[in-house]
Amino acid sequence: MKFFIDTAKVEDIKKANDMGIICGVTTNPSLIAKEGRVFEEVIAEIASIVDGPISGEVKATTIDAEGMIKEGKEIAKIHPNMVVKIPMTVEGLKATKVLSKEGIKTNVTLIFSAAQALLAARAGAAYVSPFLGRLDDISMPGIDLVRTIADIFQIHGIETEIIAASVRNPIHVIDCALAGADIATVPYATLEQMTKHPLTDQGIEKFQADYKKVFGDQ
Ligand code: E4P
Repeated sequence: MKFFIDTAKVEDIKKANDMGIICGVTTNPSLIAKEGRVFEEVIAEIASIVDGPISGEVKATTIDAEGMIKEGKEIAKIHPNMVVKIPMTVEGLKATKVLSKEGIKTNVTLIFSAAQALLAARAGAAYVSPFLGRLDDISMPGIDLVRTIADIFQIHGIETEIIAASVRNPIHVIDCALAGADIATVPYATLEQMTKHPLTDQGIEKFQADYKKVFGDQ
C-alpha cells in the first residue's frame, strides 16, 4: 500500500515529502477552503513539491456533468500529474466517462458503498475514494467497505486503484493495508503519529546514555 497525504497545507506536504514516504496528494474543497488561497495557485505549488498524482476537486458548487467536464479540463492543465476529483453522482459518472476517454485521470470521491465504487470504476475512474472515517462516525465499519471493494476489484480484474480516504489514525492505516487498499491518503498528524513508539524513544535514550558513559559527548 502506498501513501498519499490528505491536505492542501504546503508546509505539511513539504514535511511528509522530505520524510520520503508519500507519492501523491489529495485535496478536497474543505481542505482548500481551510488554506484560504486561490485553488490554482495552491495546487500548482503542491505539484511543484510532490512528483506524483495530485487530486484537485471540481468546485463544490458545480453539480452538472458539463460544468465538471469544463472544470476538469482546466484542472488537468495545471500540471501533467493532476487527477480530477469528482463527486459520486450520476452527473459525476458522466463527467468521469468523458474525462477518462480524453485521457484525463479521475478520482471519484465520496464513495460510501461498493456499488458506487463499481459504477465509478466502470465509468473509467483511475481511482475511487471510499471514506472510512465518515462511515465509522455513523457506527458503520468503514474498513468493511474498503475490503469489499478490494475483493470485487480483484475478482473482476478491475484496475481502478482504491484510495482509502477519511483515514483518521494509525489503526485505520494498518486496517486499510490488510483490507487491500492500493493507497491510503493520510493527514500529516496521522503520518507523524505512525512514526512514534515509546519503546523507540526509550531505546534512543538508553543508547545515548550508554554511549556517553564511555565516550562522553564525542
Ligand atoms: C480524501 O480524499 C478526503 O477528502 C478526506 O480523506 C476526507 O477526510 P475527512 O472525512 O476526515 O474529512
